[in-house]
Amino acid sequence: MRKAVVTGAAGFIGARLSHRLLDTGWEVVGIDAFLDTYDPSEKLARAASLVPRKGFTLATGHLSELSLPQWLDGAEVVFHLAGRAGVRASFALESRYRRDNVDSSARLAAAAKQVPSVRRLVYASSSSVYGDAPLPFAEDAATRPVSPYGTSKLEAERICLAVSGEELEAVALRYFTVYGPGQRPDMGLRIFAEAAWTGRPITVFGDGTQSRDFTYVDDIVDATIRAASARVAGLAINVGGGSRVNLLEVLDLLRQLTGRRLDVRHADFARGDVRHTAADLSRAAQLLDFRATTAFADGYAAEVEWARSAVEDARRSA
Ligand SMILES: NC(=O)c1ccc[n+]([C@@H]2O[C@H](COP(=O)([O-])OP(=O)(O)OC[C@H]3O[C@@H](n4cnc5c(N)ncnc54)[C@H](O)[C@@H]3O)[C@@H](O)[C@H]2O)c1
Repeated sequence: MRKAVVTGAAGFIGARLSHRLLDTGWEVVGIDAFLDTYDPSEKLARAASLVPRKGFTLATGHLSELSLPQWLDGAEVVFHLAGRAGVRASFALESRYRRDNVDSSARLAAAAKQVPSVRRLVYASSSSVYGDAPLPFAEDAATRPVSPYGTSKLEAERICLAVSGEELEAVALRYFTVYGPGQRPDMGLRIFAEAAWTGRPITVFGDGTQSRDFTYVDDIVDATIRAASARVAGLAINVGGGSRVNLLEVLDLLRQLTGRRLDVRHADFARGDVRHTAADLSRAAQLLDFRATTAFADGYAAEVEWARSAVEDARRSA
């Protein structure tokens, strides 16, 4: 059985990746500190769905404190998804972003280098490293992050890629806005879907023409697993959904999917939010043989349906 370590295994993407690895015969050690970045019950529920599965072991703790060589021993691949996510919160919490993203990655990368079984490190980086670069964002473009979150992801990416060599190959994947059922509660698509079902107002920062290259979570998982075995090392690779959608289009789709009128209000642009993101996907196609397969309308329909049942469950238990 091939063994992998998934850091951030109780997170939105890490849990989905862990399930997919278990489904395909991997043994998985999941590491998570259950940070209070959002309601910990969501993370506990994801961990609870993994713990009973054959081949899964949970290591609860922070990457800056755990005895990492012990947990990495015997693993072939380390998928490093643990991180403090979120752009807006990062302005007030710079030192925590540094500890959870930069210092933790440095400690993990050093441990991966030290443990002989580990041959590959796949780091979950972010499109936030680009800032407002020219579209589409190409991996060789200048990186000018505009938030402490983006800066911390870029530093962590450099640290992970710096350990890449013959014994341990490292790849950084720059994920573009990931969505789907179970999405983090601070992310726009989920906030909008929940507001549609509860009748709460929706705040759009700016005029709504800002756009994102939204990427369905199962496509992200697919690219991440490809990066574990592709013949590539020491590089950053974009992973995007392949189409750019603006917020006004998102809200139109949400009206169609729910049949509800939306109470939309506008506020000033939020600090740290870039206007547009779009991934140049040629490197992902060439080196990972990856193309996203989920159209935004289908992926968002799945998330909106998931949000409906979550809102109904919450009503029943209130
Ligand atoms: N969701 C997105 O749109 C997106 C986009 C680009 C990059 N990413 C990156 O992908 C990764 C996963 O994102 P997500 O949306 O699943 O976030 P998430 O917050 O749901 O998951 C991250 C998990 O990591 C854990 N964690 C954080 N720092 C830790 C540390 N130092 N030690 C141990 N555990 C720690 C948290 O408790 C959490 O459960 C993050 O690194 C994020 O920066 C996400």
